[in-house]
Amino acid sequence: MPRHTDCCINPSILSADFVNLEAELARIANADAVHVDVMDNHFVPNLTIGLPVVERLRAVSPVPLDAHLMIADADRWAPAYADAGLDSVTFHAEAATAPIKLARELRTRGARAGMALRPATAVEPYLDMLTELDMLLIMTVEPGFGGQSFLEVTLPKIRRARAAIDGSGAQVALQVDGGITEETIVRAAEAGANVFVAGSAVYGAPSPAEAIDVLRAKGRVVRRR
Ligand code: DX5
Ligand code: ZN
Repeated sequence: MPRHTDCCINPSILSADFVNLEAELARIANADAVHVDVMDNHFVPNLTIGLPVVERLRAVSPVPLDAHLMIADADRWAPAYADAGLDSVTFHAEAATAPIKLARELRTRGARAGMALRPATAVEPYLDMLTELDMLLIMTVEPGFGGQSFLEVTLPKIRRARAAIDGSGAQVALQVDGGITEETIVRAAEAGANVFVAGSAVYGAPSPAEAIDVLRAKGRVVRRR
């Protein structure tokens, strides 16, 4: 039986109106955090926002910031996001030369340390460093764009990651990102995820706040069993 300790819904502002970000944040005030997708057009074939905008988002956001850095050379650039006072900073394992050193640096600078894996990146090589992490993000689409379909092929990896986290005794959140809907959130939760990023499912809904409540109820189903 899964032993989830919480169920968090983190809407992604990638699907929000970039001209009205402060107002878009106000629409998701009942979220657990706001997921901020930083892309550099090198690690992924898309470009979004960088540190100056993220700093302003942090200043006006009603909820904590959960930064997802889809950027090359994470060792060099990620620490500045922790210095900006973000609650959580997630770098990609594929973009980090020294992931343990980087995770420690993020924690030292006051952020929760997250590490992300692309859909085809195995979790096994990283299991010994779970204690260095506050969150493991398993991408359920290829990173780069919102609005893609959930990759069912990632479910066994989510299950293996959940088993390893529970076995380690470490307090590591298991986040999934990409293609999360009212349907796929149930399968991801059953597999062991407990933090859910949702872009189009939240900002594409008539009421983002209501969509958050519905997703949270669905993501909690596993826990009640
Ligand atoms: C994709 C981003 C996701 C994306 C999710 O690279 O990391 O956070 O915004 O969007 P949806 O929920 O629409 O798949
Ligand atoms: Zn993301």
